[in-house]
Amino acid sequence: MIFGHELSTQLKNGCKNENFLKSNQGNPKTCKKRVFKAFHCEFIGGISIDCKKVIASYWNIRSSTYTNGVNGFDEEERAVWKQIFENSLSSSKRLNVLDVGTGAGFLALLFAEMGHKVTGVDLSLGMLEKAKHNAQNMGLEIDFFHGDAENLPFEDSYFDLVTNKFLLWTLQQPDCAVREWKRVLKPGGMVFAIDGDWFDPRPSRRIKRTVYEWADRFTKKNPHNSVFKDCYGPIRSSLPLYEEISPKKASFLFSENGFVNTSINLLLEVQNFKKSRQSFPQRILGSNSIFLISGQKKIE
Ligand SMILES: C[S@@+](CC[C@H](N)C(=O)[O-])C[C@H]1O[C@@H](n2cnc3c(N)ncnc32)[C@H](O)[C@@H]1O
Repeated sequence: MIFGHELSTQLKNGCKNENFLKSNQGNPKTCKKRVFKAFHCEFIGGISIDCKKVIASYWNIRSSTYTNGVNGFDEEERAVWKQIFENSLSSSKRLNVLDVGTGAGFLALLFAEMGHKVTGVDLSLGMLEKAKHNAQNMGLEIDFFHGDAENLPFEDSYFDLVTNKFLLWTLQQPDCAVREWKRVLKPGGMVFAIDGDWFDPRPSRRIKRTVYEWADRFTKKNPHNSVFKDCYGPIRSSLPLYEEISPKKASFLFSENGFVNTSINLLLEVQNFKKSRQSFPQRILGSNSIFLISGQKKIE
């Protein structure tokens, strides 16, 4: 695990373009030998930065406090999500599901609970430890792998469903990732991608975010806010959807990369449920909208 001081040294000194995922080739049954692409270093302010190393390092640090509903288990919220997925799936058969950027395993656990066979992939080893721990605690069998959403360690046409939540915004090459998700899907397989407009650049949203951050700092609710800025500040311009994500744009990303029957769900049930649990200041300041894009891989 890379900690704060190592990370800032990396940011100051740049990095070697080493291939740190080489060691993990995934499950030999499900993976064909794929050579991981060398990571793409960006020159930012004259310094070469390996964005993925920075991202993995941030999420390793963040994994110590990241729950996103996994530990704080709110069964009612989970029931709302399950209903949305059940409505979005055309059949009730047991599916082979891949959750990309699984984090602490929110979606992986949910789909496993719904009776599906689930595999989770993440760039951060710290997050994967957390996800494994959560699965164990819930008595669920899920395979977790260290891997990159843009270069998955799985064979073609293997999964029935690829899911991801709050991942698109942090990808360096979203086009490449979407094509990878299509590659590992069986013909007719589905993708569910959930994200939100976290860093909407409009002034009114910036002001709200600044007030929210101050409140966070004051209440020490998110001790990792400054680490987030140190990590994502220098690389955000290399992440095409960091600021520029909207349901329409995300949906276009999928149709442009060969998915058919794409649709947008504004997840009003989840948003209303969350609002019903928020305090008044949270409702006023925390108005991110989230959405689900679904699409299907063409049946040749
Ligand atoms: C905001 S968290 C979301 C985690 C989880 N999906 C959830 O909703 O709770 C983003 C996750 O994406 C992972 N991630 C970022 N870039 C990735 C990539 N290129 N490949 C795989 N995982 C990635 C991070 O390590 C982190 O766990």
